[in-house]
Amino acid sequence: MAVLSILNPKGGSGKTTLSINLARSLHEAGQRVLLVDSDPQGSARDWHAADEDNPLPLIALDRPSNVKTLASMAASYDWVIIDGAAKLADMMTAAIKISDLVLIPVQPSPYDIWAASDLVDFTKARQDITDGTPSAAFVITRMIEGTKLGQEVNAALSEYGLPIMETRITQRQIYPQTAAEGLTVFDAANEKALREMKALTAEILAWAAAHSQEVVTHGA
Ligand SMILES: Nc1ncnc2c1ncn2[C@@H]1O[C@H](COP(=O)(O)OP(=O)(O)OP(=O)(O)O)[C@@H](O)[C@H]1O
Ligand SMILES: [Mg+2]
Repeated sequence: MAVLSILNPKGGSGKTTLSINLARSLHEAGQRVLLVDSDPQGSARDWHAADEDNPLPLIALDRPSNVKTLASMAASYDWVIIDGAAKLADMMTAAIKISDLVLIPVQPSPYDIWAASDLVDFTKARQDITDGTPSAAFVITRMIEGTKLGQEVNAALSEYGLPIMETRITQRQIYPQTAAEGLTVFDAANEKALREMKALTAEILAWAAAHSQEVVTHGA
């Protein structure tokens, strides 16, 4: 079992969109997935409630202390995906402590990247006192199709010294359109969105294969 947290204190950075689509994508790849909504706004809960045939189990976490119990509850899953809350520092630090992998969605703007500085600092501090767990990486989201990352964006990202997932998630209407119905891009005929979500999933599965020992032995 691996705990994957999707965190960024900045509101609207794409955490929930990434969480629900990755959860479904890993499910499609034959993985047993538990989706955890750690945000009092309950966006993932609302999404889940919008489709009564949703194939994914979801639980809500109302307080940081409950994060600790997740690891034992989640033993029968391959992946526990935590959709992070904006601004809830306690929830964020609790999630980092039980995570094997932290993905930080950022829009390609230096302001958005700088807003993740506390999260990056805390994650690195955690890595320093463990065996490097959790792994952490940025995911560029809401990228405008056909554009490249600007020099200032690359500079802001490289200051942190964290890896950046190769796959970029593009700004596409299909993401909010499917979410509004409790669905994901796996329920729509949008090849480009499907391709990017599957590519990101393949990167995550490659990370899991490379860290299998850590994932199996890592506790809270
Ligand atoms: N790749 C994308 N293409 C188009 N719209 C997107 C994309 N990613 C996110 N959005 C939209 O941007 C808004 C914010 O995204 P989302 O809710 O996923 O962010 P969040 O980080 O979970 O926000 P919060 O901090 O409020 O929980 C939503 O309306 C969502 O539909
Ligand atoms: Mg959200």
